[in-house]
Amino acid sequence: MRQAGRYLPEYRALRRTAGGFLDFCFNPELAVEATLQPIRRYEFDAAILFSDILVVPHALGQKVWFEEGRGPRLEALADAADLDRLEGEALVEALHPVYTALAVLSGCLPPETALIGFAGAPWTVATYMLEGGSSRDFACAKHWMAERPQDFARLMELLARATFDHLSAQVAAGAEVLQIFDSWAGALSLDDMRRWSLEPLSEIVRRLKAAHPDVPVILFPRAAGEVYRDFARESGADALSLDSSVDLMWAREELQTRVAVQGNLDPQTLIAGGTRLDDEVRRILAALGQGPFIFNLGHGILPETPLENVARLVRIVRDTGG
Ligand code: CP3
Repeated sequence: MRQAGRYLPEYRALRRTAGGFLDFCFNPELAVEATLQPIRRYEFDAAILFSDILVVPHALGQKVWFEEGRGPRLEALADAADLDRLEGEALVEALHPVYTALAVLSGCLPPETALIGFAGAPWTVATYMLEGGSSRDFACAKHWMAERPQDFARLMELLARATFDHLSAQVAAGAEVLQIFDSWAGALSLDDMRRWSLEPLSEIVRRLKAAHPDVPVILFPRAAGEVYRDFARESGADALSLDSSVDLMWAREELQTRVAVQGNLDPQTLIAGGTRLDDEVRRILAALGQGPFIFNLGHGILPETPLENVARLVRIVRDTGG
């Protein structure tokens, strides 16, 4: 999921030279280096661009910064006037350092290593824009959804367009696969999930397929539960990324018959290591390894993950999965 994160000592060293996290994201030379670090160490099959989902609100004109130990912070949108000030037209221009990094990467990665571009889904990005950062209950975002439905719909539409523009520009720059993270899909009721996660993502996939028919799209509606089935049937995505709670046999029957699946080792199991890790990896491969499958974690790798456990994981997957 997140490869270049803080578990790598070489990442932490690079991070210290970079200044603010957004300066890091917008420095193509450093972003290229951070993308390549895990590939050099472990020879993963795919590299995910070093960037963040919150470069989009920044490019739309919202104030975004990262505080040490507190994660992302934004100047939360307060009303319709704040919405009016967001500037969708200038997005691709504002994000050109990201595309420069992709163009450099597509020239220097080995041909067998896929290059993945990504963006946050409209709902997940909207939660950060409305809450002003991470949230436990999404009270502000849900308040907008219920009490100011027109403003909320306008924000979601703006974000759907921005997401498409950003992903499309990433393909033009060299991304070979696209992944869209809806990390907070599971905070929505089932009806709202269909309306505000599945619907906008399906529309984005439709537009991406029209513009770039050969570029696979992976969706990650985290904690979507039974709605994963609707994603498999209706979204048009090529693959679904599964969080660790998804039952493997259910995924095999209900999802993998229609789309490729990716996942879903619990990042804590990777920290534990040892035979518990081996057993869990083999269990996942036994269930899903016969169909279209990408081995991955069920969510981001944690900073305290021992390096040797990652090496062990790669070895078992390669030995078992062929
Ligand atoms: O790991 C990689 O380099 C891949 C690129 C990547 C990052 N963020 C870099 C990053 C990707 C794919 C993301 C996605 C992302 N960012 C998501 C969706 C996936 C998910 O995890 O659910 C979300 C919700 C964000 C927003 C975000 N960015 C948060 C909540 C945080 C703080 C995390 C924490 O634990 O403090 C970030 C920061 C961030 N993005 C880091 C990295 C490597 C750590 C920043 C640092 O080095 O200080």
